Amino acid sequence: MKTLIKKYTDANLWNKKILITGGAGFIGSNLALYFQKNHPEVEIIVFDIFRSDDKFSNGNLKSLGDYRNLLDFRGEIISGDINSKEDLELIRELRADYIFHESAISDTTVKDQKLMIDTNVVAFKNILEIARENNSRVIYASSGATYGDSKSPQTVGIEEPKNIYGFSKLMMDQIALKYIKKYYMNIVGLRYFNVYGKNEFFKGKTSSMVLQFALQILSGSAPKLFQGSDKIFRDFIYIEDILQANILSMFSKSGIYNVGTGKARSFQDIADILQKELKRDLGNIYIKNPFIEQYQFYTEANILNTQNILGYQPQYSLETGIADYVPDILKIFNNYGNQI
Ligand SMILES: NC(=O)c1ccc[n+]([C@@H]2O[C@H](COP(=O)([O-])OP(=O)(O)OC[C@H]3O[C@@H](n4cnc5c(N)ncnc54)[C@H](O)[C@@H]3O)[C@@H](O)[C@H]2O)c1
Repeated sequence: MKTLIKKYTDANLWNKKILITGGAGFIGSNLALYFQKNHPEVEIIVFDIFRSDDKFSNGNLKSLGDYRNLLDFRGEIISGDINSKEDLELIRELRADYIFHESAISDTTVKDQKLMIDTNVVAFKNILEIARENNSRVIYASSGATYGDSKSPQTVGIEEPKNIYGFSKLMMDQIALKYIKKYYMNIVGLRYFNVYGKNEFFKGKTSSMVLQFALQILSGSAPKLFQGSDKIFRDFIYIEDILQANILSMFSKSGIYNVGTGKARSFQDIADILQKELKRDLGNIYIKNPFIEQYQFYTEANILNTQNILGYQPQYSLETGIADYVPDILKIFNNYGNQI
């Protein structure tokens, strides 16, 4: 019988149970659908608070998970809050082999420090305790925001977070390192840089600028960039490479790893590539950056350890990632217009 070649790993995950917290969100739903497609032998459970009308003081929604990211999903879903001890019991009872922890306040502009620490840090520690008891391997989302303005290429161990979000992710990493050392647990923290790709539309104003510029362009207006965008550089990473890093982490040494392309590109590059891909020439509109105090101006991931230890190799440049994403962006525009 011909063996099925599975993407990123051909390991047999038969009888394995995979829990994805934040599975109704952007990255979590991509993980759930990845496993469903490439590893039909696994049991997949999505745990998410799903969206309600509750808003932060910045006007953005408190939770961004959306069932529409999971329309093709055929596993089990649990609606729960990682801040609730009672809901965490549902996770304990699952006794998952792998926990992909994506639930978090992912909005980097939220200023409520208590809520950020409770949701991102305290809840994570509680999940690690459950994993310790159940002998689960944990792969969780950290962030390039831990680095703030620390020198490029940003390297694990040298962090200067500029906002409470970046600080919360750094504190998650400190707890993870402690649990790895003290309890010999299998934990991998992935510091995602700026992610873009399918299923991010429901993040609204917190979705990537790739999507936001594209929808502006498709609706006939010039993309709105912050002033000086040709000098604001980020390491933009496509969702497929995020999936790759997560899957490799299932079989790798515990630790904290950067997930980027290893190349810094400007926001202006995004707008220019999009106009070319979408065959438009609308010019640009430049606006004042309201987040200047807490903004990162140059990020570029040092991915040496990710390459050498995880075996990760980014497959997409900004050009090829955007080209791959465009058909999905066109579908979004046809369905929703520029409603971000
Ligand atoms: N997208 C990026 O560029 C990026 C970059 C670095 C790190 N990250 C991290 O990756 C992870 C996934 O991010 P994303 O972009 O998919 O964001 P997202 O907001 O789409 O996903 C987060 C999910 O967590 C859920 N959630 C929020 N609070 C919850 C709670 N109290 N209980 C249960 N579920 C809750 C939300 O409903 C949402 O579905 C997050 O931890 C985020 O901080 C994302």
